[in-house]
Amino acid sequence: MEKVLSVKNLHVSFTTYGGTVQAVRGVSFDLYQGETFAIVGESGCGKSVTSQSIMGLLPPYSAKVTDGSILFKNKDLCRLSDKAMRSIRGADISMIFQDPMTALNPTLTVGDQLGEALLRHKKMSKKAVREEVLSMLSLVGIPDPKERLKQYPHQFSGGMRQRIVIAMALICEPDILIADEPTTALDVTIQAQILELFKEIQRKTNVSVILITHDLGVVAQVADRVAVMYAGKIAEIGTRKDIFYQAQHPYTKGLLNSVPRLDLDGAELIPIDGTPPDLFSPPPGCPFAARCPNRMIVCDRVYPGQTIRSDTHTVNCWLQDQRAEHAVLSGDAKD
Ligand SMILES: Nc1ncnc2c1ncn2[C@@H]1O[C@H](COP(=O)(O)OP(=O)(O)O)[C@@H](O)[C@H]1O
Ligand code: SF4
Ligand SMILES: [Mg+2]
Repeated sequence: MEKVLSVKNLHVSFTTYGGTVQAVRGVSFDLYQGETFAIVGESGCGKSVTSQSIMGLLPPYSAKVTDGSILFKNKDLCRLSDKAMRSIRGADISMIFQDPMTALNPTLTVGDQLGEALLRHKKMSKKAVREEVLSMLSLVGIPDPKERLKQYPHQFSGGMRQRIVIAMALICEPDILIADEPTTALDVTIQAQILELFKEIQRKTNVSVILITHDLGVVAQVADRVAVMYAGKIAEIGTRKDIFYQAQHPYTKGLLNSVPRLDLDGAELIPIDGTPPDLFSPPPGCPFAARCPNRMIVCDRVYPGQTIRSDTHTVNCWLQDQRAEHAVLSGDAKD
């Protein structure tokens, strides 16, 4: 499969009155054509900051990419000018957010705003624009699109509005679609329909999707591969099967034990005690140590390196690292 995006050792910090927040601390992953790559983790672990970095939408004054790169079509997105990034945004990489209302202009008809999004990046005749808008509305499952393109966003239900937002994001045929908690604001039935729509769009367009969510149920329904994030770092990456059936990181296991699962009907749900560490001064060792049932001495001292379990599955945990025994004794293993 072709690699479309490569995030390498990304570090992002925010300068605030309280100090420097180290929001993303060495995140690396590749995105392949046509896959859905989910990034999952508790609130505050750096999922949105990672996606904002890819989109070039970090707050300009407070945020800084302090290290790493994001490679896309032989360019490093972290080092592009605002102008170059604007032409990539929407056309090559587009994004949908949790709240569909913020993405839509209430004063324009749906047809006009979809048409405008198209014209911003492509030169087309009025007739071609109308045809493209109609076919996009059909693709995302808006019934009776000829009539509905004359209507305004408030005339649509929440689920239908989210479909329009998805149509806006897809209309310029981007290579990558980033969806940040795209179904969190929707009720469960509509959520299932929108997730089904994602799968259908992917079959038809071969777009690569980065799906950001705190919800493992969403991951189970649509992800091909999954990155589990914790405290600004990636704890484990694997295929959906690796993560749901072969999870190795105690944090991943904790997440899995804290949500209901269809395949383990009736199993007791166990929440993970405690809270993630303060990102103003994250611990030097494993950030999960304070909550980890398997914690060892070395975990507090040194951040665990990456252990490769298979072509698809990597884990950052001392339990997986054969050097742990030596490191416990000497307390000075390096990753
Ligand atoms: N604009 C900002 N200013 C300061 N800190 C921020 C800002 N945006 C995010 N952060 C901090 O960065 C960390 C990661 O946030 P975020 O990526 O939004 O988490 P997630 O999306 O996983 O819930 C959090 O500690 C958050 O408080
Ligand atoms: S490195 Fe240590 S503290 Fe961290 S998850 Fe693994 S066992 Fe737990
Ligand atoms: Mg977020």
